[in-house]
Amino acid sequence: ARNRYYKWEVKYEFRSPDCFKKLVITINAKTPGPTIQAEEGDTVIVQVNNTLLTENLSIHWHGIRQIGTPWFDGTEGVTQCPILPGDSFVYQFVVDRPGTYLYHAHYGMQREAGLYGLIRVAPRDPEPFTYDFDRSIILNDWYHQSTYEQASGLSSIPFQWVGEPQSLLIHGKGRFNCSNSPSLSTGVCDMSKCSPFIQTVIPGKTYRLRIGSLTALSALSFQIEGHNMTVIEADGHYVEPFVVKNLFIYSGETYSVLVKTDQDPSRNYWITSNVVSRNRTTPPGLAIFNYYPNHPKRSPPTVPPSPPAWDDVEPRLAQSLAIKARQGYIHKPPTTSDRVIVLLNTQNNISEYRRWSVNNVSFTLPHTPYLIALRENVSNAFDPTPPPDGYDFASYDIWSPPPNANATSSNGIYRLRFNTTVDVILQNANTMNTNNSETHPWHLHGHDFWVLGYGKGKFDVKNDTKKYNLENPIMKNTVPVHPFGWTALRFRSDNPGVWAFHCHIESHFYMGMGVVFEEGIERVGKLPSSIMGCGKTKGFHRP
Ligand code: C2O
Ligand code: CU
Repeated sequence: ARNRYYKWEVKYEFRSPDCFKKLVITINAKTPGPTIQAEEGDTVIVQVNNTLLTENLSIHWHGIRQIGTPWFDGTEGVTQCPILPGDSFVYQFVVDRPGTYLYHAHYGMQREAGLYGLIRVAPRDPEPFTYDFDRSIILNDWYHQSTYEQASGLSSIPFQWVGEPQSLLIHGKGRFNCSNSPSLSTGVCDMSKCSPFIQTVIPGKTYRLRIGSLTALSALSFQIEGHNMTVIEADGHYVEPFVVKNLFIYSGETYSVLVKTDQDPSRNYWITSNVVSRNRTTPPGLAIFNYYPNHPKRSPPTVPPSPPAWDDVEPRLAQSLAIKARQGYIHKPPTTSDRVIVLLNTQNNISEYRRWSVNNVSFTLPHTPYLIALRENVSNAFDPTPPPDGYDFASYDIWSPPPNANATSSNGIYRLRFNTTVDVILQNANTMNTNNSETHPWHLHGHDFWVLGYGKGKFDVKNDTKKYNLENPIMKNTVPVHPFGWTALRFRSDNPGVWAFHCHIESHFYMGMGVVFEEGIERVGKLPSSIMGCGKTKGFHRP
């Protein structure tokens, strides 16, 4: 195993990823940031220099379990104090499993400003499939407002929703039609300032495409015109291969697909991303699948393929159900669990603020990170009352807006007994608007979980648990809960630390859609002083 050193300069720069000029956060002048490449078992060491003029920072390594290093998970308020402007911070962790992962800012709504990228971990053992080339594409949606305008709007009275994104980016490139906004001066919106992402391919080959999504809001359908994709990896786990024409991908997920360049080589093809699950107003993301030696900028002669209906849940549910662990790579889950936590997802009001809640509790981050508070026995750092393990199953109607829209807010957390098996049922419900339920991709830090099942309507403890897939469930770190549906997960509380579990929609987490699990805090090693210095850890020394 080797050490992989990275030195990152993080700063604000003016960029026009979709022709519209705005301030974005770059890493070494790039957004998306550099791809981290390592081999299974390597140690990744990233020295982050916070060169943002006046803004804190923290970076999360999404999908890396941080075994033995819970303090380098990069989750502000949970595992560390923010990195102050002018400071530098060294993250050091082992990438213990091969696969495709992500990284992104985890402070306020900073991720949306452009601080994100991919982590690729090569396996030591041969893989159960072959390909000629390995390429990555990261998907995003893009807003023209700053994260400050957005975050302030979400926490204002009256509430100001962020709205739909202005464009969709494919590997950091998109196209906003400036002529639709004639009030924007050419200095701000300039159609010569952006160009589509181009993936050049050689005819007659097999490509492994690693696709990751870090959208702020959007669920996406990803497609390569005229080409099938064979899904082989999800969140770092091998998938029993299945073929799709379009891949549904939710924020925080990664997939690998195999694509054969077996179409007419005399032309180029469209690569598209489209919003699903919300009534789309954002134009498709467009990139070019360029068959060598055609000119990379030559537009495909056809119109981009049309996307699936935005409100059709069936094909999305079908894809979720199709993702199983690959034969020969199955990790069987424990057959029973020690604790079941049901998390009802609702939209609520708290005084006049619009919030998201889980079992009627809307999550807020404390000023003293939990990991430090618990490991160092700092008192009164957060609400000691844990949130409830369930909701009122019998009477709650998931098909209607909440009868009592008022929720409470808390920074209380779930304390898990170490080395036990925990089931989490994510239960979706109607939002505050009638006949509306959204898709929420939930991401668990510090673990992979088994995906035991998905269903429609209200989870029925007696019958639905019998239908769990205990034979070949996929392990993932991010999973959607579909509109008016439920998703059941199982994991082992075997990674000492404090771990966030939240909706990966940036604004939803900001509005309270998350929980935190503590497990085995007494087994956590000595905390590095570099994570301290905020809240009640002010007296603790920074180096
Ligand atoms: Cu990728 Cu807590 O997030
Ligand atoms: Cu959500």
